[in-house]
Amino acid sequence: MKLKTKLIIAFMAMMTLPTVFLIIARRVFEPREIGELQQMFMIIVFFTAALLVYWVYRTVSVPLAKLQEAAQNIKDGNLDFEITAEADDEFGELCRDFEEMRLRLKANAEEKVEFDRENKELISNISHDLKTPITAIKGYVEGIMDGVADTPEKMDKYIKTIYNKANEMDLLINELTLYSKIDTNRIPYNFTTISAKNYFLDCAEDLYLELEAKNVEFEYNCCLEEDSKVIVDPEQLRRVINNVVSNSLKYMDKPKGRITMDLKDVGDFIQVELGDNGKGISPKDLPFIFDRFYRTDASRNSSKGGSGIGLSIAQKIVEEHGGNIWATSVEGSGTVMCFVVRKYQEVPMDE
Ligand SMILES: Nc1ncnc2c1ncn2[C@@H]1O[C@H](COP(=O)(O)OP(=O)(O)OP(=O)(O)O)[C@@H](O)[C@H]1O
Ligand SMILES: [Mg+2]
Repeated sequence: MKLKTKLIIAFMAMMTLPTVFLIIARRVFEPREIGELQQMFMIIVFFTAALLVYWVYRTVSVPLAKLQEAAQNIKDGNLDFEITAEADDEFGELCRDFEEMRLRLKANAEEKVEFDRENKELISNISHDLKTPITAIKGYVEGIMDGVADTPEKMDKYIKTIYNKANEMDLLINELTLYSKIDTNRIPYNFTTISAKNYFLDCAEDLYLELEAKNVEFEYNCCLEEDSKVIVDPEQLRRVINNVVSNSLKYMDKPKGRITMDLKDVGDFIQVELGDNGKGISPKDLPFIFDRFYRTDASRNSSKGGSGIGLSIAQKIVEEHGGNIWATSVEGSGTVMCFVVRKYQEVPMDE
């Protein structure tokens, strides 16, 4: 019952109960007993008023005490409690709003803890990845200074290694800068509606030339309708394909590499499947490969291992396109990376 209704009922009761009593009493009592009647009337008025004030007071005080306790808990940083609202009045509503606010605050606090944990991990990963080439550079420079590189061949080898390590650092820093820009949405997307068939054919032609030079077989299958269109940022989507294909090349362990690109129409989306016959990913690693800085142990130990952000960049870009990316893999025989991008649907014009 709403507080307003309760107050109206209390007011009506206060007015009617003593009046009803007065009407009945006038009939029952003799006029000479009027003094006693007045006394009883006062008592009835008093009790009615006290009862009603208590009733209204309870309506306000119980939820108020709950809210006070809740506010105190929140002030102390404790968000693990529950505010239950029994009444169906304004206070009940306030309690429910308060409970919603508590749940949101709790979710935010948990998100912040997770964010802080991720950031710490990020910093430790960055330091680790930068430290490895720096240590190598330092070692080789010390070698040169100490005269260890005493032949022109050795000197040449040392300088080349220093150069390669510096390049590695440069690449990592560039990737990190790009990731941070993508993560904080500082990269403006230029979405355009283009023919899916033409766009992916262009990509496939570039891939064909790149892979042919690397002696890797490339197969392209397109099962798209002539007029199907996609809404994409061509440059960013190209980055996704490049990141995926560069992994296929990097983690290729067969003498004759083979990469495939299949395009399918799946309802509201166009699905792109990039397959390889590389070393594959174990089922225990598969759920984590899109996490930033995640590398499988094998790639961490190998000289080919990158910084582990290529796929997280790809995932972020695909999600910005309203799609998603996933992978299937068989260890030892290869991986298929799939992603979908939304199709452009023409809205039929009414005549
Ligand atoms: N096609 C693939 N075959 C085998 N393993 C793969 C393949 N693609 C990804 N992986 C595994 O997933 C991990 C994450 O890939 P991701 O592209 O994010 O990082 P990376 O290649 O190590 O580094 P980066 O791309 O930043 O240079 C890789 O380290 C690798 O272990
Ligand atoms: Mg990669």
